[in-house]
Amino acid sequence: MGGLGSGRRIRVALAGLGRMGRIHADNLAFRCTAARLAGVYDADAERTDDVAFRLDVPAVRSFDDLLADDAVDAVAIATPTATHAELVTRAALAGKHVFCEKPISLDRDAAAAAVHQAARSGVVFQVGFHRRFDPDWVAAVQRIRAGELGEVLLFRSSLRDKLSPDPQFLTGSGGLFRDVMIHDLDTARWMVGEVAEITATGAAPAGSGFAEIGDVHTAAAMLRFTDGALGLIDNCRSAGYGYECSTEVVGSAATVRIDQPARRNYEWRTPGQASVPLVADFEERFPFAYVAELDAFAVAIGTGSQPEADGADALVAFDLACAADESWRTGRTVRVGKESA
Ligand SMILES: NC(=O)c1ccc[n+]([C@@H]2O[C@H](COP(=O)([O-])OP(=O)(O)OC[C@H]3O[C@@H](n4cnc5c(N)ncnc54)[C@H](O)[C@@H]3O)[C@@H](O)[C@H]2O)c1
Repeated sequence: MGGLGSGRRIRVALAGLGRMGRIHADNLAFRCTAARLAGVYDADAERTDDVAFRLDVPAVRSFDDLLADDAVDAVAIATPTATHAELVTRAALAGKHVFCEKPISLDRDAAAAAVHQAARSGVVFQVGFHRRFDPDWVAAVQRIRAGELGEVLLFRSSLRDKLSPDPQFLTGSGGLFRDVMIHDLDTARWMVGEVAEITATGAAPAGSGFAEIGDVHTAAAMLRFTDGALGLIDNCRSAGYGYECSTEVVGSAATVRIDQPARRNYEWRTPGQASVPLVADFEERFPFAYVAELDAFAVAIGTGSQPEADGADALVAFDLACAADESWRTGRTVRVGKESA
């Protein structure tokens, strides 16, 4: 296993080349400075060949081949959620460091087993909570930690897609709470602290198809943090106007608001009106965070340090998402424990 200490970039092979995997592939190939793309693998061989040709890296034919390659230090997993736990476990057993998209699994025991195997194997394990690496959120957290915000009174976060993912993705996603709200829940505990209780609700408009798969299209959650602060989260699968990811933390001394909805830095002004072009999806919204999370993963490998978003964080966020889902289903407030590992 190499590292920054050995004076070279960490060689990361990527499994899964769909919506998210292609973003990681391009970032590893063109934008990361501490990591580089060592090969790509997708269950769809044609897709593998297309990406490998475009990025001029080896097209790998199986996950085993990818693990058997001594020139690979680490794997990044962006396959469907149902496959993550097994692939994480196999990679860890093969001694490869692992970056895995969220959530690790929809099966809590399988997720915990994968996290434990990574720890037993002594490999770095990081999960894809990219907001922890976005420069705006990082700056806000640094100032909150420095005490500039004072006492946190309220956390508010929105995550809304412009257009809903395709039905096949939705069926295997684990539902809005585990697939989408998990990001806001991780952000909440990262920015403010542990959550003590959640009250959530959701709606599936007639004709949207969400009720038929036991899911919701729009959801809202209220949080109470252990220190007494309150939180509000809203999510929507198709907001129509654009992709929104915004967060606000209201404190006794200051308020920080992160919202950068414009795709370009211009306003179009007409009499009495100004309009801006809005970002359409997570790729446009996070030009830096997805690069930074993979570079941070490589730095953690190179320096032997603990990654920012680790297995324990993944499990706590998953438990919070399950609590939100339970609250929606039962109509009750759900109290949550702090220890999830
Ligand atoms: N962090 C984020 O912002 C973010 C955004 C979107 C998706 N995700 C996560 O990324 C993961 C993938 O989501 P997506 O939207 O890219 O899905 P997708 O369906 O677009 O892509 C999945 C890809 O994996 C391939 N695949 C399926 N089974 C495989 C296997 N066993 N081995 C190798 N390849 C396999 C498919 O052929 C497909 O190309 C999910 O876990 C999702 O939750 C994270």
